[in-house]
Amino acid sequence: MAEETTSVRPSRWLLALYVLLPVWALVYLFVAGGLVQPEVQLVARNVEGVSVGTAAAPDGSEVVLAILEVVPEEARDDQPPRPVTDAMLAQAKTQYDTLCAVCHGPEGRGDGPAGAALNPKPFNFHYRAFHERMPVGATHWVIKNGLANTARRSGMPAFGQLPDDQIWALVEYVRRLGRRP
Ligand code: HEC
Repeated sequence: MAEETTSVRPSRWLLALYVLLPVWALVYLFVAGGLVQPEVQLVARNVEGVSVGTAAAPDGSEVVLAILEVVPEEARDDQPPRPVTDAMLAQAKTQYDTLCAVCHGPEGRGDGPAGAALNPKPFNFHYRAFHERMPVGATHWVIKNGLANTARRSGMPAFGQLPDDQIWALVEYVRRLGRRP
């Protein structure tokens, strides 16, 4: 009898090991080894303050879609009538620094001093969704018409007094600004 119990115990432990080791290995691979499914990473990036990986830009899909909702559909497909030149981009930088940075911040992160009290906050040009989901025509429309008189009712003023070429240069400028690390 005594012999039987001693021979059963080690094999139970072995059995437990055989079961637990693969489970542990899987958990390790998925969580620590970076094999997390892409969908899971996307969800994690949407949670404020949580980022997967080191250089994850904020997502901003919700804000982009909410703005798109108030932009007239026919404006979204607009394209610049002329290519934006380097000289126009240089002028756009000066304009950005004097007209826009006060709200959108020097690096375009939506953190300028005049925007602190606004709700919604000034747009962050580093949002991934800005580059992936916002058509240039929509950005052009927003700079020209503002968002204050739309259902969004946010504090983005209209800059329709600027020549159209300069508005297109600003569109290109804020897109480049938002791609800088
Ligand atoms: C008084 C503060 C303020 C100033 C000045 C300002 N903005 Fe904005 N901007 C905002 C706010 C607020 C929003 C809206 C955010 C929202 O609705 O979520 C916004 C949104 C935007 C968007 C929306 C994103 C898109 O693609 O449609 C763009 C582009 C933009 N601003 C560009 C500019 C440019 C260019 C200038 C300067 C010529 C400028 N803004 C000046 C406050 C400001």
